[in-house]
Amino acid sequence: MRQIRTVKGTHDILPGDTNKWQVLEKIIHGVGSRFGYQEIRTPIFEETQLFARSMGEDTDIVSKEMYSWKDRDGTNLTLRPELTAPVVRSFIQHSLGTAAPLQRLYYIGPSFRRERPQKGRLRQFHQFGVEAFGSGNPEQDAEVIAMAWHILSQLGISESSALQLNSIGSPDCRMAYRETLKEFIRPNLDQLSETSQKRFETNPLRILDTKATHEKKMLEGAPSVSDCYTDEDKWHFESVQDFLNAMDIPFTLNPRLVRGLDYYTRTVFEFTSKTLGAQDALLGGGRYDGLVETLGGKATPGIGFAAGMERFLMAMEEIEQKSGESKNDIYFVCLNEEGLSDALSLSNELRQAGYNVISDPLRRSMKAQMREANKSGARFALILGETEREQKSIQVKDLKNGDQISIAQSDLIHHFQHLTK
Ligand code: HAM
Repeated sequence: MRQIRTVKGTHDILPGDTNKWQVLEKIIHGVGSRFGYQEIRTPIFEETQLFARSMGEDTDIVSKEMYSWKDRDGTNLTLRPELTAPVVRSFIQHSLGTAAPLQRLYYIGPSFRRERPQKGRLRQFHQFGVEAFGSGNPEQDAEVIAMAWHILSQLGISESSALQLNSIGSPDCRMAYRETLKEFIRPNLDQLSETSQKRFETNPLRILDTKATHEKKMLEGAPSVSDCYTDEDKWHFESVQDFLNAMDIPFTLNPRLVRGLDYYTRTVFEFTSKTLGAQDALLGGGRYDGLVETLGGKATPGIGFAAGMERFLMAMEEIEQKSGESKNDIYFVCLNEEGLSDALSLSNELRQAGYNVISDPLRRSMKAQMREANKSGARFALILGETEREQKSIQVKDLKNGDQISIAQSDLIHHFQHLTK
């Protein structure tokens, strides 16, 4: 029979790796609370319309990367390819905007895109991200970018990452720029790739994103979106830069950075990693002041980012050192069947008191259990044999230095509390 394996582009996260994920998740929760953000969890599938209306029909994600199907009742459903649109949907559905003028949220969870799998690019991957609603001011942009920076710093990868920053202006500015850019490109239109020719009509700004060398060269003298900024766009973008400088967060201005989704306005940014190779985008985000209204809510400014957790883990060279081994305090060695009830109840008491206790349910020999105890990384082994059971005592063996003492079972918790004080 054929062995069933994971679907292409998906991965199991095995026990040897889950503690790295836990370290990353803990840091995300920690930075979230330090900045006053609250966690939100939304379903992994939504109505397809949500993504089509928010990200734009012509984007790569909506036009070719979504896992969509028709449900039995005829509803079109999609596995979420990102979480911004679901979070905005939830914000509107639960009137979160009326509860407080600011709603600052973060999330962790899987996303799905049917891309061609390669290193750092999966079909089920995990994102964490933040979305801040209610302030259109540049200090909110700076705060969101600072959060990303904090997480990178805590993981020890801020030095090997680079922040690229741009403003794509307000919608009016972008409309004007679209036309200017099209005029610039039009004479060389036939030299563009098929994709870029299509984008010329649907979303010409995305041509600036091109990876093709000849197109990059052709775009060298292209007009810049900054030529179309309104006074307010200019003030906003300069203020974001001033605030980042004040926080000593280094960045590079990249007038070609446009990002692939339609909902962005003004600030857009990306952190890339120098250690990742082709898929080097660690995280990306930007402002989306029109999105809440587009999805049927009251006009509310917003800004956020999302990061690929698999890429973070790849970029974290120091992860082994940071994650350490999971801590096992005690290995319980029980030598006969009659002792099992005592062993189970003593183990439970120790766990209630906060100790990590491993027990052995295979009824193996003392030698085999002691070998496991040493392998487990536990600091102590507790040994319960016939004599100990009769005397209501227990042997405590220090696995580091080999010392062994016998104590009363009733003193066990007190003994450990005293040791670890
Ligand atoms: P995005 O740039 O499409 O933005 O994705 C954010 C991050 O998710 C990327 O920088 C990358 O690290 C990771 N990522 C994307 N696709 C894959 C994949 N196939 N495999 C592995 N990692 C991947 C968004 O999703 C926006 N929602 C960000 C945002 C939040 N903007 C405002 N708020």
